[in-house]
Amino acid sequence: MERKEFLKSIGAAAALAVTFSCLGACSQAEDFTAPDVITPDPETGALFTIDLSASSSSELQNNGGYLILNNIVVAKNNSGNYVAATVVCSHEQKKDVIFRSNEFYCTAHGARFDLNGKGLNNDGSNGLKIYGTSLNGTILSITN
Ligand code: FES
Repeated sequence: MERKEFLKSIGAAAALAVTFSCLGACSQAEDFTAPDVITPDPETGALFTIDLSASSSSELQNNGGYLILNNIVVAKNNSGNYVAATVVCSHEQKKDVIFRSNEFYCTAHGARFDLNGKGLNNDGSNGLKIYGTSLNGTILSITN
């Protein structure tokens, strides 16, 4: 192999390696900064679905459990129903809303919201965006 050809082949391999390492890093970054606005599925209207039989959704098996996907807090309330709300707090837009004691709660400054998004204290007075949920078998759909 001539020197020029050798350098060309090394260059292609290096470019490939960089591409693959970038793809891994980029997908993590996208997961971390998932957009607040998700395009609904044109057929079902679902923003996204969760398979409740999957181990990745085990937090939703028990009342009071929750998980956060696509900047949405999805929880199983104390009555065993699924509820969902934005993770972005209306107080100072921190992405710190969780589910606690059968209500949505922001860990930043303590804003509290009921299951309908109504503020329960001064920091929560602007309310919280609530999403719809519907269950079909083990598939939970989150809708606007
Ligand atoms: S940002 Fe949530 S309570 Fe302040």
